Amino acid sequence: MRTVLIIDDNPAIGQALSLLLSLHDIRPLIALSPDDGLATLARESVDVVVADMNFSADTTSGEEGVALFRAIRARHPDLPVILLTAWTHLEAAVGLVKAGAADYLGKPWDDAKLLATIENLLELSETARAVEATRVSRRRRRRVLEDQYDLCGTVFASDEILSVLELACRVARADVPVLITGPNGVGKDRIAQVVHANSAVRAKPLLTVNCGALPGELIEAELFGAEAGAFTGALRAREGRFEAADGGSLFLDEIGNLPLAGQMKLLRVLETGQFERLGSTRTRRVKVRLISATNADLAAGIRAGTFREDLYYRLNTIQIAIPPLADRSDDILPLAEHFLGAAATLTDMARDALLGYPWPGNVRELKNCIERAKLLRGDGAIDVEHLGLPAHAAGTPRNLDDPPREVVEAALKKHGGVISRAARSIGLSRQALYRRMQRFGIPADM
Ligand SMILES: Nc1ncnc2c1ncn2[C@@H]1O[C@H](COP(=O)(O)OP(=O)(O)OP(=O)(O)O)[C@@H](O)[C@H]1O
Ligand SMILES: [Mg+2]
Repeated sequence: MRTVLIIDDNPAIGQALSLLLSLHDIRPLIALSPDDGLATLARESVDVVVADMNFSADTTSGEEGVALFRAIRARHPDLPVILLTAWTHLEAAVGLVKAGAADYLGKPWDDAKLLATIENLLELSETARAVEATRVSRRRRRRVLEDQYDLCGTVFASDEILSVLELACRVARADVPVLITGPNGVGKDRIAQVVHANSAVRAKPLLTVNCGALPGELIEAELFGAEAGAFTGALRAREGRFEAADGGSLFLDEIGNLPLAGQMKLLRVLETGQFERLGSTRTRRVKVRLISATNADLAAGIRAGTFREDLYYRLNTIQIAIPPLADRSDDILPLAEHFLGAAATLTDMARDALLGYPWPGNVRELKNCIERAKLLRGDGAIDVEHLGLPAHAAGTPRNLDDPPREVVEAALKKHGGVISRAARSIGLSRQALYRRMQRFGIPADM
């Protein structure tokens, strides 16, 4: 629970503040002397301290308050401290704020102002803690991946791709089929490379067959090979990709387009390693690590009778689903900068436009967009007009939780700087508002 420690030698002040805080779901702790206060801090987990400046009746210099503040700082460098001070020691209090105290209030204090200050500090420390915790854990997971695996130059900042890569790398070593799903251009090929690069057969090649690119009979010949004369135009005997990939990996892209006859053969290879070339009765045997990908809904294909259910269950032992780029906007700018290279920069407006666009063509579309912008930009930075994004995105706000700076500022002002209330008033979460404030450079204590 959020806890505030009040250090004041006047028990009446402790009681009044305790009541105020308890009414707002804040746990109050009271200490009647500086020593008592420091002992409490050593014992309890405290989020904010409210400290008096004067502790003995015969001193009014505020020196004790200064000494207490220094003692707290020495032991708890980040703990926010609010000073309560008689107006006569204003100067000492201001000095302490310069030295890192969070704020000061004159006695008698204004309850609303004190509460607003405390709430803000509590929120900041909660947010900072939460943000820090996710950042640390994300960084650690990323480092583990980078140290142990070959990520094939995959660029990412999102949690989604972090999880995708973790899964891809972990299943890579096991000899099980992997099915990669996701819409056009999200990076399915890229993840297939990652699986192969971290597999036991990484020294062997990864061959790719696009099942959507060839018509029925040809795709079977492509996969399984054909004897001369097996079909019209088959002048010479040819080896199929399964034979060529023996001992390595085979990536079957757009697997949803494989005709039913090919699906049956594929299932047999997966189960027994056996197949025959078209036009041949000689059974061949291979060992191939199969990776497949689709942007189609295979379950719908099963219902429609165009995809074999048994093959589906065989292929998707491990399924890696790559979310569309619009659902992982953390990746947009890092990818854009990657495609940009060191050659050019983006204006703030261009960044906003990239973040606001829905990217139906995903990473491939982003890549093409940046390539085009590099050609169009001339010498300067890349601006919105160089991106040539379709107009429909321009007028739509990036998303509903994205108010402009003026709205954020006005809401903060109206709610006395209390982030949670300001956030609620404009339909944002506390964290979301906090991120906007960081982006706009609005200080938390405005
Ligand atoms: N995370 C990434 N980091 C760097 N480049 C990426 C990343 N994701 C995708 N790309 C690049 O974007 C382009 C499209 O990716 P890819 O070909 O892997 O998508 P796909 O899902 O296989 O597309 P399709 O559905 O058309 O087969 C490629 O040039 C790829 O190298
Ligand atoms: Mg692909």
